[in-house]
Amino acid sequence: MARCAVYTRNEAGWSNILNRVLITGSNRGLGLEFVRQYLEDGWRVYATCRRPAEAEELLRLAQIYSEVRLLRLDITKSEDISSVIRELNNIPINVLINNAGVRFKSGHAGTDCFQYDLWYRTFETNTMGTVRITQALLDNIEQSNQVRLVVVLSCATAGYDGLDQVDEIYYHSSKAALNVAMQGQIKALKRRKIGVLLFHPGRVMSRMGGTEGISPQQSVAGMRSIIQAFTLEQSGRLLQHDGRILT
Ligand SMILES: NC(=O)c1ccc[n+]([C@@H]2O[C@H](COP(=O)([O-])OP(=O)(O)OC[C@H]3O[C@@H](n4cnc5c(N)ncnc54)[C@H](OP(=O)(O)O)[C@@H]3O)[C@@H](O)[C@H]2O)c1
Repeated sequence: MARCAVYTRNEAGWSNILNRVLITGSNRGLGLEFVRQYLEDGWRVYATCRRPAEAEELLRLAQIYSEVRLLRLDITKSEDISSVIRELNNIPINVLINNAGVRFKSGHAGTDCFQYDLWYRTFETNTMGTVRITQALLDNIEQSNQVRLVVVLSCATAGYDGLDQVDEIYYHSSKAALNVAMQGQIKALKRRKIGVLLFHPGRVMSRMGGTEGISPQQSVAGMRSIIQAFTLEQSGRLLQHDGRILT
């Protein structure tokens, strides 16, 4: 299998120091595609998911690439987070891809029947889980002397006109809150030279996205080229996978 040389951009130009990325929810969909593309590019990939022993695609990739490491991580569980931090043992992480997310389908049409447990669980993962794992990994990201970046897969919620279903309210309110929670940390993270990029990956075919839309390959390739060109001045932007600025 052909491997590309690894080049990292820093203030001094390009160097060939190994880059490390940690990806949440990497057993399927966009997360799995991030794993594939970063491995093909020669990065060291910490591929995290809730059930690594059942993650067939990741296990297959681990037989091909020596640079992938599978770690168990449910982003809502503090014991999993602590165990990942211990496993990493102060290893610098250049890029954290906050990909894990949920979108529950309760089957209820309209807005007259809220299921508060589903709404809570959506926030627990999409909002608080994402903030929690990000906070836990900041020291590892800060230890990188190259690119230091937190990526968040979210969506643009302002002006969205499909909010007349409870399921849409659960999901979009959790992502709107996530956007606010990440925006609120931009200044403090900038002082630590850590950038934040929020992405709307587009409508992407996956278990969550359904059968219509663009491929995960296309979406991830677009986001990766933006990540590759990232500078700290761009921190806090919400971009679409094709580079369109949403906020
Ligand atoms: N697809 C789209 O059109 C679209 C559009 C806008 C934004 N996004 C965002 O892009 C991200 C990826 O979406 P996708 O389409 O690839 O969805 P997907 O195919 O449903 O994958 C979601 C991933 O998140 C994982 N996950 C869920 N809860 C978790 C938890 N508590 N801890 C760790 N992992 C967890 C799932 O793991 P399990 O297999 O264990 O459930 C799965 O690996 C999500 O954040 C989503 O909101 C997607």
